[in-house]
Amino acid sequence: MKAIACYLGQMLVFAWASSLCLAGSTPSISTIFQLGTAGSWLDDLRGPSLKWRVAARVPDAVLFNGLTKWNNTSVLVADSAKGVIWKVDIETGASSIALSDPTMTIPTNASIQVGVNGVKVSDGFVYYTSTARQIFCRVPVDSSAAPTGPVEVVASGFPQDDFVIFPDGTAYVATNALNTIVKVTADGTVSLVAGSLGSLPLASDTDCQFGRTARDSNVLYVTTAGGTSDPVNGTLVVPAAVMAVELAGCES
Ligand SMILES: *[C@@H]1O[C@H](CO)[C@@H](O)[C@H](O)[C@H]1NC(C)=O
Ligand SMILES: *[C@@H]1O[C@H](CO)[C@@H](O)[C@H](O)[C@H]1NC(C)=O
Ligand SMILES: *[C@@H]1O[C@H](CO)[C@@H](O)[C@H](O)[C@H]1NC(C)=O
Ligand SMILES: *[C@@H]1O[C@H](CO)[C@@H](O)[C@H](O)[C@H]1NC(C)=O
Repeated sequence: MKAIACYLGQMLVFAWASSLCLAGSTPSISTIFQLGTAGSWLDDLRGPSLKWRVAARVPDAVLFNGLTKWNNTSVLVADSAKGVIWKVDIETGASSIALSDPTMTIPTNASIQVGVNGVKVSDGFVYYTSTARQIFCRVPVDSSAAPTGPVEVVASGFPQDDFVIFPDGTAYVATNALNTIVKVTADGTVSLVAGSLGSLPLASDTDCQFGRTARDSNVLYVTTAGGTSDPVNGTLVVPAAVMAVELAGCES
């Protein structure tokens, strides 16, 4: 897969009437977790029917957020309150903290109480956004997801929620309060892909993912919260939605 950019337009795919408890998922494992009041857990939604089981309970976790596949039996999950990344075995339920770093924590004077948020694995690195610190980072890891080198801040200085990453290190990041998707290249260059501060389609966008078929591999699906926490232009709130943002391969 190659990074592409050139915004053509967007359309509404789905809109929700009520709030979501889904905060992270990964297509290949189809493990989805909910934010529980009695601790954090991972729900496993694999299989043809929507029959789910609790895949793991992690009593010491505080606020599970972004999630990604680590290998066929484990996932990495960002804990936005504790400021760590957990490794959770979805077969055995075993869990441990794989990565912790000051860049993942919430600074004492932060206005947003969300630390490490999105997490992805690409080419020997774990990439993550850290929302309160407005940084996009990466750290090299070994085969057990332990760090093998220092954390590198790839890009900083703008609101960041979850993201999608390509093997070459190019990321598309949902900027939530800015109502945009930006592209971050491996050298840290940040450019606008879609949306704008005063527009509704990507209001409070929280995450994005490219289509997985030949027909929609140029489509970036974007989840939004509709401006619930940051109304557009101060007052405008719309239903949460999945938007399809069509991009063209007009940039190599
Ligand atoms: C992971 O699972 C896939 C699909 O079942 C399989 O093809 C692959 O060999 C597995 N990989 C490892 C490392 O076990
Ligand atoms: C928080 O404190 C740090 C260190 O003192 C400072 O650099 C930063 O500007 C502060 N941020 C806010 C939002 O006040
Ligand atoms: C996945 O990774 C964990 C820890 O890094 C390891 O214990 C486990 O055996 C791995 N599973 C597979 C299927 O490779
Ligand atoms: C938000 O305000 C700007 C500036 O006044 C305006 O151009 C834009 O149309 C407004 N957005 C919406 C959704 O009304």
